[in-house]
Amino acid sequence: MHVIMLGAPGAGKGTQAEILSQQTGLPHIASGDLFRQALAERTEIGLLAREYMDRGELVPDEVAIVMILDRVSNPDCEAGCLLDGFPRTLQQAEALDRALSEHGKGIDKAVYIEVPDDILVKRLSGRRLCRVCQRPYHLLSAPPKAPGKCDRCGGELFQRSDDSEETVKERLGVFFAQTMPMLGYYERQDKLIRVDGSREIQAVAADIASALRAAIQ
Ligand code: AP5
Ligand code: MG
Ligand code: ZN
Repeated sequence: MHVIMLGAPGAGKGTQAEILSQQTGLPHIASGDLFRQALAERTEIGLLAREYMDRGELVPDEVAIVMILDRVSNPDCEAGCLLDGFPRTLQQAEALDRALSEHGKGIDKAVYIEVPDDILVKRLSGRRLCRVCQRPYHLLSAPPKAPGKCDRCGGELFQRSDDSEETVKERLGVFFAQTMPMLGYYERQDKLIRVDGSREIQAVAADIASALRAAIQ
C-alpha cells in the first residue's frame, strides 16, 4: 500500500504518518526529515536544500524527486510506504507515478489533512522535534513525558529554524500557491481522502484509519 499524507505546514502529516506507520508496519518517509538529515551530515543535497528551507521555499523539483525515488526504491518499501511531504508539485506527483508504475505499483490513496490557518500557526510555534528520531511534540497539545526529552528514544528536543513566524508565513503561502493546486490530480483519480485535521490527534488518526480501511476493501 502506498499512501501520501498531504497538508499545509503544521497540519499533522508527520504526527499522523508516525501513528499509521506503527499500525501498518509501513515505513514513514518524510522528505523534510530526509533534507534535515542530509544537512546534519553536510552532504551536497543537504547544503543545497538548506538555502530553500531557510526561506520557506520549495527545494527544486529535480532534487526532491531524485532523493525520494532513491529512498522509495529501498527494499523496505517493497510492500509500500507512507509518504509525508512528497509530492508537493504536479511534476513531483507525475514523476512518482512514473517510477512506481515501472514496478507495476501505484499510489493507493492520498490523505489530505485539512486544518484552518490560525490553528496551523499555533501548532508550529509550539512544536518541538526529537533531534535523533525526528518525532514531533507540542508544548501544549502533545508534550513529552519528561521536559525536553523524546519519549521514544530519549533524544534532545529542539525547535526547527523554519518555525519562526516569518518563515511560517512564507511556507503557508507556498503551500497554497504551489501544493494546493496539486490536490486535483488525486481528486480526478478518485484517490483523495479529506480528513478534518483540527480535531485531537487520536481522533484524526481514527478517521484516517477508518477511511483507509473502507478504501482498500
Ligand atoms: P516539511 O518538513 O515537510 O515541513 P512542512 O510541510 O512545512 O510540514 P511540517 O513538518 O511543518 O508539518 P506537519 O504537517 O508534519 O505537522 P506535525 O505532525 O509536525 O518540509 C520542510 C521544508 O523542506 C519545506 O519548506 C521545503 O523547503 C523542503 N521540502 C520538503 N519536502 C519537499 C518537496 N517534496 N519538494 C520541495 N521541497 C521540499 O505537527 C505540527 C505540530 O502540531 C506538532 O507540534 C504536533 O505535535 C502538533 N499536532 C499535530 N496534530 C495535532 C492535532 N490533531 N492537535 C493538536 N496538535 C497537533
Ligand atoms: Mg512534518
Ligand atoms: Zn526520539
